[in-house]
Amino acid sequence: MAIEKDFLIIGSGIAGLTFALKASQFGSVAIVTKDELDESATLYAQGGIASVMTDDDSFELHAKDTVEAGRGLCREDVVRIICKEGPSRVRELIELGVQFTRIRGNDYHLSREGGHSKDRILHANDLTGREIELTMIEAINCKENIEVFSHHMLIDLITRGRLDPKLEQGSPQDEALGAYILDVNTNKVKTFLSKVTLLASGGAGKVYLYTSNPDTATGDGIAAAYRAGAKISNMEFVQFHPTCLYHPDAKSFLISETIRGEGGILRLKNGSTFMENYHSMGCLAPRDIVARAIDHEMKKSGDDFVYLDTTHIEGYRTRERFPNIYQTCLRFGFDMTSKPIPVVPAAHYTCGGVKVDLNGQTNIHRLFASGEVCYSGLHGANRLASNSLLEGLVLSHRAVAKSALLLKSKKFNNSISFDIPNWDCGNAVDSDESVVVSHNWDEIRRIMWNYVGIVRSEKRLCRAERRIKLLLDEIKEYYWNFTITKNTLELRNIALTAHLIILSALERKESRGLHFTIDYPLSDDSNWKKDTVLQDT
Ligand code: SIN
Repeated sequence: MAIEKDFLIIGSGIAGLTFALKASQFGSVAIVTKDELDESATLYAQGGIASVMTDDDSFELHAKDTVEAGRGLCREDVVRIICKEGPSRVRELIELGVQFTRIRGNDYHLSREGGHSKDRILHANDLTGREIELTMIEAINCKENIEVFSHHMLIDLITRGRLDPKLEQGSPQDEALGAYILDVNTNKVKTFLSKVTLLASGGAGKVYLYTSNPDTATGDGIAAAYRAGAKISNMEFVQFHPTCLYHPDAKSFLISETIRGEGGILRLKNGSTFMENYHSMGCLAPRDIVARAIDHEMKKSGDDFVYLDTTHIEGYRTRERFPNIYQTCLRFGFDMTSKPIPVVPAAHYTCGGVKVDLNGQTNIHRLFASGEVCYSGLHGANRLASNSLLEGLVLSHRAVAKSALLLKSKKFNNSISFDIPNWDCGNAVDSDESVVVSHNWDEIRRIMWNYVGIVRSEKRLCRAERRIKLLLDEIKEYYWNFTITKNTLELRNIALTAHLIILSALERKESRGLHFTIDYPLSDDSNWKKDTVLQDT
């Protein structure tokens, strides 16, 4: 028996939870999330949420910084709306109970990060995402018409285009009807039917060997949307965070950019500074420039890392402002108040994704996307720091407003003239060779790190493409022959997402923002000031 809800939400970070809280006023809601409810990239966000909060800042300035970072690819209407609506959405978070760090009285402490011309990052010390996520979950738990399905994973979207032989998938008449979902604990597949489906399943950092992302970031929503015929844009723009802790056991622990905002300095091993040679904003240049500069300096010197030096900041200030980072570094043997810490870039944010409009609507009716899974045009070719939580908040609010109108409209048609089949597992049997999954997984992540990283070339991209294609064929065979598990689903998704990144990178014959290739080192505005778009029709 299918589970029927008005709204089906895949993912439980800020985008999914915002949508759930607001949509619950209009109907029943299911949140499907493949781990615990709180496990999402939002939970680990350190820096904060960018928003215009003071009289000496303005929407125009926030928009200008965003557009400058985005290197000519931002959709300026989207940028304006998100910057303008941001403060109202942030106030709603505060009303919900989110405690941002204050300095005195009612004033919030605002930090600065790379590419921002003003201090405008609201934060809860260095655990901003945690504060937001847990506060939202408290509110979710009080809503009777929200049902949470944790440890449930998206297999594929159910769309009219897939089921109706008369309809082409991804065509203007196509629409989302729900999803097949794997109950990870029982390995049973459930059918969910919904009037509106929201993808809010985050990005794909796990495609790379080194990433600041949690293990859940396997591109599930992007891959499923692509398979269903949704348009996918600008996947070549993968943001590498310049500063993750360099330590074999630290799993690329993020060292927030706000540390540089508070005066942290990047240095080479010999103690000299270098960022002034790359950008007038020095250590606070936009992220693409800082990550590439570090990569260049590491290649030049042969060193495995550079240093981030905070020893000139009073120790008590570092401990108070960055308690989580300070304690984590200490656990790995680094006291950042007395010695510089070793840092390296790691994959951090998927700027491209499922193409959506100003309201989070994809090209498939009744299918919305918000947060890191989507490409709205806010980030362009490079995301401005701390704009991502903001995007999730504003876009999900707008997506709820749009879907509520849709459900009320006389034209809304929920009748389906054919049966929606239950999941068919064919002749699949349990695998006795699960090691194949971990080997393939490892191979993809290494290929992506080595050939599709911060600095690219046609030769490296073609080499990566050939290898990923072989792996995709192997994974397809494995997928159909053996009973699906969370691991095989994730493998299928990282392989496809990796392929989409490579195809988009090969298509863009220029360098822009986060996509830098030695074969086309300059930007080419006359041919390439446009999005790449992939669609499986
Ligand atoms: C950071 O704290 O440096 C990360 C913030 C972001 O990625 O926006």
